Amino acid sequence: MISHEIRTPLNSVMGLIDTLNTSALDNDQSEWVRQMDQSAQLLLTIINDVLDLSKIESDEFKLDPESINPCDSVTTVVNQLLETARQKGILLKSHIDEDAPNLIYQDGNRFTQILFNLVGNAVKFTEEGEVNVTLSRMGPNLQLVVDDTGIGICEESKKLIFKPFTQADGSITRRYGGTGLGLSICKNWSP
Ligand SMILES: Nc1ncnc2c1ncn2[C@@H]1O[C@H](COP(=O)(O)OP(=O)(O)O)[C@@H](O)[C@H]1O
Ligand SMILES: [Mg+2]
Repeated sequence: MISHEIRTPLNSVMGLIDTLNTSALDNDQSEWVRQMDQSAQLLLTIINDVLDLSKIESDEFKLDPESINPCDSVTTVVNQLLETARQKGILLKSHIDEDAPNLIYQDGNRFTQILFNLVGNAVKFTEEGEVNVTLSRMGPNLQLVVDDTGIGICEESKKLIFKPFTQADGSITRRYGGTGLGLSICKNWSP
């Protein structure tokens, strides 16, 4: 209910921004509409993250497992982020080991969201070089590795970044934006 109340007005704002975009605008107006669109997208991401986190923290939250192919989730996420990586001039590659499990019992939407947060971070925090996503087998389990040639995470910060609203340091928000919710959602949704 709350999610509906919060998202509906924003959807209408975003719809109107799209309509504005198709009307005759001078250069200044186009730029203002572009900035409005960017801020609205960002606000939607923040609202979705906050709603997810509050869902996780409520007792009603349950994972909804099904049989999924993790390779399909990797392909979906990599395709979604390919254009952003291309614009930044970095390579985004995936590799699936021959013996990687091709069927797992997981909540498919949550699995994709975790992947999206991890690979999205790798692309976001990498200015040059590459991001690699690898699926392999570790005993009976699936192992997912995301590595990048970006700014890295210092030992101290590794203990903190899985907490809600926490980023490695104060300069991250200024340089890269974000709210520090992605990793805490990943952690909470992991089985
Ligand atoms: N691939 C990465 N490279 C460097 N730092 C990272 C990476 N992934 C996460 N971090 C650090 O962990 C913090 C928390 O990540 P996250 O919860 O996704 O928040 P956000 O992306 O909104 O900053 C980031 O702000 C950043 O400091
Ligand atoms: Mg993130």
